[in-house]
Amino acid sequence: MVPALLILLGAMETLQTDLFPGKTLLLLPPVNFTIKVTGLAQVLLSWEQNPNQGQTIATVKYHVKINTPQEEDYETRNTESKCETILHQGFSASVRTILWRDHSFLASSWVSAEHKAPPGFPGTSIVNLTCTTNTEAGNYTNLKSYQVSLHCTWLAGKDAPEDTQYFLYYRYGSWTEECQEYSKDILNRNTACWFPRTFIHSKARNRLAVHVNGSSKHAAVKPFDQLFDTQAIDQPNTPMNVTAEIEGSRLSIQWAKPVSAFPIHCFDYEVKIYNMKGYNQVEKTTTNTFVSTTDGVSKYFIQVRAAVSPACRTIGLWSKWSRPIYVGKEQKPITKWFLIILSATICFMLLIFLFLCRIYHIWTKLFPPVPEPKSNIKDFIVTTNCEKAGSRETEIEAMSYIEEPVFEILENSVF
Ligand SMILES: *[C@@H]1O[C@H](CO)[C@@H](O)[C@H](O)[C@H]1NC(C)=O
Ligand SMILES: *[C@@H]1O[C@H](CO)[C@@H](O)[C@H](O)[C@H]1NC(C)=O
Ligand SMILES: *[C@@H]1O[C@H](CO)[C@@H](O)[C@H](O)[C@H]1NC(C)=O
Ligand SMILES: *[C@@H]1O[C@H](CO)[C@@H](O)[C@H](O)[C@H]1NC(C)=O
Repeated sequence: MVPALLILLGAMETLQTDLFPGKTLLLLPPVNFTIKVTGLAQVLLSWEQNPNQGQTIATVKYHVKINTPQEEDYETRNTESKCETILHQGFSASVRTILWRDHSFLASSWVSAEHKAPPGFPGTSIVNLTCTTNTEAGNYTNLKSYQVSLHCTWLAGKDAPEDTQYFLYYRYGSWTEECQEYSKDILNRNTACWFPRTFIHSKARNRLAVHVNGSSKHAAVKPFDQLFDTQAIDQPNTPMNVTAEIEGSRLSIQWAKPVSAFPIHCFDYEVKIYNMKGYNQVEKTTTNTFVSTTDGVSKYFIQVRAAVSPACRTIGLWSKWSRPIYVGKEQKPITKWFLIILSATICFMLLIFLFLCRIYHIWTKLFPPVPEPKSNIKDFIVTTNCEKAGSRETEIEAMSYIEEPVFEILENSVF
């Protein structure tokens, strides 16, 4: 390509040297440069070659420079150029004729054009616009189809009058649609929009233009534009039919591909395994199964989420986590705590009971000794002992000692 261009330039050079002797070629700027709005956030720049230049210079190019909203420049051989751009700040651009000749660069002066910013008071336009798309299976019975929904939310401008009403439009390619299903804030202003079906293709990589304008009796409401990369705002669905089972210490988890126009090999997954004891594991996988080992005694919660892999599209969001499912021995924390509290209560009551027994001798009251025979036996034993000792004195002492508790018991039982 480059050598071909050089040969071409070389040929032109000899031709032009003949046509413009002295090499004092003056390039003239393009004429009739206009900026025309052709759609939401879309303009067409067009110009003509200067008629006074003559038809001799076939190799001229144009250098286009966009000044507002964001500086950008490029070269083209065409005399028109389409731009997708936000327009609420206005749009301005310049163009000039350029030519590479004799290994030197020639350029005309610039011509400029401007599309004025739409009117509106500052602070009246919406803020924090976010949009996401989601793919659902279409309900055509004999044809596999998908429909893409669009959901956008925003906040009313901080200086927007209370009676402000906002309207949302989107453009995708040449399709433009106005929102039909709004949600409102407390002042009844539209602050969210839902398109159950759009013209957006979930696999294509195009830009989505969103335009939100508004009206109020008290002030001109400034519109707001934003361009979204459709792949970046597409949120995949959650994986389906997540199941898990434990065999011994082996935990195996399975799931199915989320509803999506992307084929099965296009998905990355994250598996989250966690429990109430603080265990938390998040693992990545590219297949529809995951195997892990467990201690076999805890209950585990499992969630899975999906994203389209970089092999199939460059950027994108993760899906929401699937609803948690659990596996493993179910040990209800309530039962466990109940058992602990119950045993603690029993221990405490036993302690109190023993303590009271000690103070009031309840034990002896509950099972009072049968006085007569016991006393006799004791006397007998003591007596026998005494007889062995062979001392009358000790016998009397022992007798009186035995009598005492009996007296005390009788005394106590009076009360
Ligand atoms: C530029 O615009 C004028 C008026 O619109 C028109 O008469 C003229 O032919 C245009 N010039 C070119 C080179 O198209
Ligand atoms: C709106 O966006 C601004 C700046 O981007 C941020 O500071 C603010 O927290 C956002 N407000 C809400 C409610 O999200
Ligand atoms: C899908 O089903 C809904 C109601 O069940 C129906 O209104 C709609 O037309 C159907 N769409 C297609 C594409 O079949
Ligand atoms: C909002 O923009 C749409 C699309 O450009 C336009 O048709 C409509 O008249 C505008 N509404 C207001 C209130 O500016």
